[in-house]
Amino acid sequence: RIVDLVGVQMDFGASKRGVSMGPAAIRYAGLSEGLERMGFQVENLGDIVPLLKGDTKPTLRNYEQVVDVNRRLYHTVYQSLEQGHFPVVLGGDHSIAAGSISAVSKFYGSIGIIWVDAHGDWNNEESSQTGNMHGMPFSAVCGYGPDCMVDFGQGPVFVDVAHCVQIGGRDIDTQERIRMKEAGVTIFPIDMIDELGMAEVMRRAMAVAGEGTKGIHLSFDVDAITPEAAPGTGTVVHSGLTTREAFLAVETIARSQKLVSMDMVEVNPILDERNKTGILASELVQSALGKVVF
Ligand code: ARG
Ligand code: MN
Ligand code: MN
Ligand code: MN
Repeated sequence: RIVDLVGVQMDFGASKRGVSMGPAAIRYAGLSEGLERMGFQVENLGDIVPLLKGDTKPTLRNYEQVVDVNRRLYHTVYQSLEQGHFPVVLGGDHSIAAGSISAVSKFYGSIGIIWVDAHGDWNNEESSQTGNMHGMPFSAVCGYGPDCMVDFGQGPVFVDVAHCVQIGGRDIDTQERIRMKEAGVTIFPIDMIDELGMAEVMRRAMAVAGEGTKGIHLSFDVDAITPEAAPGTGTVVHSGLTTREAFLAVETIARSQKLVSMDMVEVNPILDERNKTGILASELVQSALGKVVF
């Protein structure tokens, strides 16, 4: 099996700079080597680099750069799938999930999404308090806007919300929460993980995302993990997932054999401690692809 590694040096979707260096940090942590030890053939597709300048507006900050990168990423991921490869997208801020998931959804027709994140990323240009487009991709790929993030002239295939799961949420904006509930996303916020345990949450998540779909896309934002363990990220929220809960989540997905593609995003080496978050991200990708502990 061939894994395509594509980095996206994107930080225009976030307030803080530096998350554009995330792909380098995750690679430096030894991701390719680890995947090769697991028996994969790894094809390094390099990084997508944003335009230096572009249009912006208060409700969609740096939208021209965000849309341009997502359009290019869409084509890269689509080609990867056409070749029968497994695309792993390294971020970069979370706005890039719009391009990657658009490709997976277009290719397969019907997919489920598991979105592991402290945030909902379910804003659009009306509901967002910041205009930061990394707070919008989940909404966009499901057809709840902004459409510019997912419409590259290909005729977008929106993901059915009935197969979408949010895990680890604990910082959701007021309007965003209303929009998520109305849309009907299955949500396992952090307190529900406390109560049910991650094993049960994942059993339920796999049923929602996996049953009746051709495959699952995992979009993993490292800020889902508690800041003590993952300090290298721009929008930290206290009291998050433990590393063990995070590994259990991705290992459960791996065992299902339904994973077809993934994003690992929001690793910001400027804010990190000796690449701790980059190393964790590299290990989580390997575990999502089936690395076994023993
Ligand atoms: N909800 C906030 C916003 O819309 C924060 C989003 C953070 N997203 C992320 N991918 N880290 O700006
Ligand atoms: Mn996110
Ligand atoms: Mn987040
Ligand atoms: Mn269905």
